[in-house]
Amino acid sequence: MKRKSFLLVSFVLFSLLISAQKPTADPIEKKINILINKMTLDEKVGQMFQIDPSAFFKSSSDVDEWIRKGKIGSVLNVIGAEKVNALQRIAVKESRLGIPLIVGRDVIHGYRTIMPIPLAMSSSWNPEMVAMAMHVSGKEASSDGIRWTFAPMIDISRDPRWGRVAEGPGEDPYLASAMAKAMVEGLQGEDLAASGSIAACAKHFVGYGAAEGGRDYNTSLIPETELRNIYLPSFKAAKDAGVATYMSSFNDINGIPASGNRHTLHDILRNEWGFNGFVVSDWGSIAEMINHGFCATSKDAAEKGINAGVDMEMSSSSYIENIKTLLDEKKISIQQINESVANILRIKFKLGLFDHPYTSVSTEKVLLTDDNLKIAKEMAIESAVLLKNDKQTLPLSKSLKIAVIGPLADAPHDQMGTWVFDGKKADSKTVLPAIIEKLGATQVVYAKGLSISRDKSVSGFVEAIEAARNADVCVLVVGEESILSGEAHSLAELHLQGKQNELIEAVAAVGKPVVMVVMAGRPLAIGNLIPKVDAILYAWHNGTMGGPAIADLLFGDAIPSGKLPITFPKGEGQIPIYYNHKSTGRPADIKNWTPLDKIPVEAVQHSLGNTSHYLDYGFEPLFPFGYGLSYTTFAYSNLKVSKNVIPMNGLVEVSVDITNTGKYEADEVAQLYIHDRFGSITRPVKELKGFKRVSLKPGETKSVSFTLTKTELAFWNNESKFQAESGDFDVWIGSNSVEGLKGSFAIK
Ligand code: BGC
Repeated sequence: MKRKSFLLVSFVLFSLLISAQKPTADPIEKKINILINKMTLDEKVGQMFQIDPSAFFKSSSDVDEWIRKGKIGSVLNVIGAEKVNALQRIAVKESRLGIPLIVGRDVIHGYRTIMPIPLAMSSSWNPEMVAMAMHVSGKEASSDGIRWTFAPMIDISRDPRWGRVAEGPGEDPYLASAMAKAMVEGLQGEDLAASGSIAACAKHFVGYGAAEGGRDYNTSLIPETELRNIYLPSFKAAKDAGVATYMSSFNDINGIPASGNRHTLHDILRNEWGFNGFVVSDWGSIAEMINHGFCATSKDAAEKGINAGVDMEMSSSSYIENIKTLLDEKKISIQQINESVANILRIKFKLGLFDHPYTSVSTEKVLLTDDNLKIAKEMAIESAVLLKNDKQTLPLSKSLKIAVIGPLADAPHDQMGTWVFDGKKADSKTVLPAIIEKLGATQVVYAKGLSISRDKSVSGFVEAIEAARNADVCVLVVGEESILSGEAHSLAELHLQGKQNELIEAVAAVGKPVVMVVMAGRPLAIGNLIPKVDAILYAWHNGTMGGPAIADLLFGDAIPSGKLPITFPKGEGQIPIYYNHKSTGRPADIKNWTPLDKIPVEAVQHSLGNTSHYLDYGFEPLFPFGYGLSYTTFAYSNLKVSKNVIPMNGLVEVSVDITNTGKYEADEVAQLYIHDRFGSITRPVKELKGFKRVSLKPGETKSVSFTLTKTELAFWNNESKFQAESGDFDVWIGSNSVEGLKGSFAIK
């Protein structure tokens, strides 16, 4: 009997030992196991702690001491090879186990060469170009010691009031997924350990873009089907592209803060998707669960964060203060801590930090090289969206005399956009000098009109009007300063700030053709200006090379090809407005819309015949998703759907011919949309399921073809299954979400 229990105890102990060490053939996993077995609890907790030294410590010797003791796993916002190497040397040479730090930084759309804001990059509908732009950003950042960036930001948002809409891919899950993949691949390269590669971080997980009313940090209410079909796909695409890390977001989702949300972080990200990198919290978002009213104390917050699956706490100190007690109280287990530490070490190993912890101080120029600037310019060209071009005002002839007017015509800081820490305005090339360079100084007359976008003084108008009188054409560069979008910079109203409307009206009244260039971090409600100007080029905040890119577009050295990645509302009252909405029982229809002023006086109460619309704004947006003009024209013809009926696991090819019917060689972004006519849950009226950028010479025709399979046709249904359903589908290929040739097929 004694011997039996001895054997049992030995067996249990042996199994425990085995499970603690997780025997594995993978060399990285072996190293992780060896290291974890050597680590003290304090050292483990240290790996789970990330700080910005200047924000956390009073003196720099404190940070050295903490690193020496193995109490910090990661730092953010330390830049420069020498500074990074100095801290890394302490971690590697002076800490007991020599575990290197992972150094993070927000490199959202460029490091020194600033690319257009992500919303603009998404407007290019060119994932290859976006991957190149992000690779440049990663390469530049890594030369300064940064091996991990908190990008891509892939939050879907349907609300341009939200300041952070600038940082994201727009409103559509399919386009956002393509951008997520491109950005992760661009930053991480094929091998995380290769020179120039840095670890990416898919953020903010999840639902942050659904913040109520577009107010930053606010509550998100997202039914599971909507979470799966709209908000999660871009994050899944990042996972499939091999993203190294995720960041848990600030918001709560259906009452549970995202940083303490076991459903999204553990059940979906780890269990369903099999993610084995690490999750970092957002800045202080573990401790902020107290403000949310979800946790009573910092100990409670640490418990919820760890149990949800946040491996590393950014900036707040709930983990370091409470993990020991939580273990003693058995609220968390040492296995959970070991797993988090393993997740963090795994990425450090994959980055090659154990073998090459230091940043080499190279004499070769890495920042702002000609190649990098070329990519930034091309990216800015492809990001700009032509919204109006009456009577072919654009492109402008280079022999004209141009009045360049407006607060953003020469605003090197603001054109870079939000989330720029390391870009310098001195490197930024603005519109004014770019036009002067193209035409010569004598052909350009400049008047700012307003000092900044918020300027409420009209004292500069006289000069602006005078400039307009002395020119053949006016180029008005308006919009918003970079600080009006981005984190914690939401707006209740989307009109142009300050006296910009008045400036445009005053200049337009001179009677010369007016080209309005808008530099902004979000869709602005510019509907009132459309009849007053001849052409509108929406350039967004377009980075270091924004000016030369715009100049090329204005004078036909480049042809606009961008398409909107987000619906433009007529006004704030229409928000949320997005193309992939549901049909409703009384779908909006022009036949049933009685505009406000047409309602008879003393009309009797009635609703029959009315549909889902506003009396004042109707139901159409200012500009639809996918919209964007060119200087040339494209004709779509010959839509072919390869089969009328396909089996559940079958595929259907849909193709169309596109002809360049205009005068310029140009790119068109062909877009494929589907409509699943009936579903076990109501389906969107249209869903983007494919796009391709094609280059066409004048008169040239190319056939563009798409393949639809179960993957594109499936959705997350009420039974928690991702599947396609039998039934009828409409399909369109066209140049935006409201036009296109229509076909159909069925799954039977
Ligand atoms: C933002 C994150 C960012 C982090 C670190 C937070 O305020 O929400 O997107 O990565 O700060 O700078």
